[in-house]
Amino acid sequence: MSNETITVINNATGERHDFPLRQGSLGPAAVDISSLYKEAGFFTYDPGFMSTASCNSAITYIDGEEGVLLYRGYPIEQLATKASFLEVAYLLLYGDLPDEKALVDFEKIITRHTMLNENLKDFLDGFHYDAHPMAMLVGVVGSLSAFYHDSLSVNDPRHREISAHRLIAKLPTIAAAAYKHSVGEPIMYPRNDLRYCANFLHMMFATPCEHYKPGLVAEKAMNLLFILHADHEQNASTSTVRLAGSSGANPFACIAAGIASLWGPAHGGANEAVLDMLLEIGDVKEVPRYIEKAKDKDDPFRLMGFGHRVYKNYDPRAKIIREVCHQVLDEIADVNNPLLELAMKLEEIALNDEYFVERKLYPNVDFYSGIIYQALGIPRNMFTVMFAVARTVGWVSHWLEMMSDSNNRIGRPRQIYRGPTQRDYLPISKR
Ligand code: CMC
Repeated sequence: MSNETITVINNATGERHDFPLRQGSLGPAAVDISSLYKEAGFFTYDPGFMSTASCNSAITYIDGEEGVLLYRGYPIEQLATKASFLEVAYLLLYGDLPDEKALVDFEKIITRHTMLNENLKDFLDGFHYDAHPMAMLVGVVGSLSAFYHDSLSVNDPRHREISAHRLIAKLPTIAAAAYKHSVGEPIMYPRNDLRYCANFLHMMFATPCEHYKPGLVAEKAMNLLFILHADHEQNASTSTVRLAGSSGANPFACIAAGIASLWGPAHGGANEAVLDMLLEIGDVKEVPRYIEKAKDKDDPFRLMGFGHRVYKNYDPRAKIIREVCHQVLDEIADVNNPLLELAMKLEEIALNDEYFVERKLYPNVDFYSGIIYQALGIPRNMFTVMFAVARTVGWVSHWLEMMSDSNNRIGRPRQIYRGPTQRDYLPISKR
């Protein structure tokens, strides 16, 4: 640990307070101001957590300036091209890549937990036919806590591990069931002879009267997208999971909270919003007009799939996915994809526009993921659900890490109060 300190001086009173600098294994150091209020009597103010580290974590590292993303130290580029999704899931959960036996055992455990309690089907049946699958996902995942009482002791490491396995295993089953409900088809049971992504494709596209053989290209593309989306350190949904979990809430409730946070268009909802935007633009000729709208501060329109809080040069996930996007479309779609053409034009114009260059706004992972999902036949309202299935691995890894941290305390931010000062209640006739 570094012995460096940072001194805070109150210019009004001349009081000085020293705070330790905490240095991680990579990245900038952080001033530990946890005793600031006790010592100096004031808070820090950092809306949107622009400069605030909320926890210690050994899971994922991002260098936004250099476009680096590491899972447990491994570059995303290597994992995306060489690993399977469950191998990456094991890495995120346990800290190291599995050997052959550990991977086989892990795959068996996850496969054993893919089924849902039959009564959960009644929950899905209760949703209106046009319910958004994300709405169903939030509800059904939260309700899992009503079914698995045998693993809900959050202070028991073995219970926590079983819940983590259940969540990773059951999310694809719930996601596919939500889709089947929305198209009025019977739910397909998982097939435990298939790999994780192939089984997911089976549950999405098979019917009781028609067998579906997941193609290798589709399975590989989904495996890649799931790896790219598996974790991204303290993003909004992961921080939501941690905050919910900090109170000792059960893991199913915490992951449901994460799913709700992911749904927003500034976060995981962006992949669906990108497709909506491309369809709205409709024609390459319209691109310049929409670029102008995105630059206009009086217009709420933003270029969806552009910009990132952390990446200020490029999003390494977008770089990987961009290449795969062309490959997948060439192999799966037999005609030129007009949406991809539109997306490429939009990207080209935006990347050369002063507004976007100045603000370092580059395409992010979700600029391309929706286009690939669309080519795989996944409907638009399922895009964020796909993100949620993959990110569940990251969420549970962070939840497990937080719950085994002896320094874990309930998350409780403070505020700058700007409301009325104390006043007295008046009878209604005198107001
Ligand atoms: N289109 C037009 N202008 C933009 C955009 C955009 N997509 N993104 C940021 N800006 C402008 C913004 O108006 C601001 O301009 P100015 O400095 O003149 O006020 C400047 O760029 C900085 O933006 P910000 O909103 O302060 O940046 P942020 O870090 O708070 O927001 C963001 C990051 C991702 C929410 C935002 O860039 C955005 O809304 N992007 C579109 C939604 C999107 O694609 N989200 C997916 C993120 S990647 C997947 C994930 O990890 O969830």
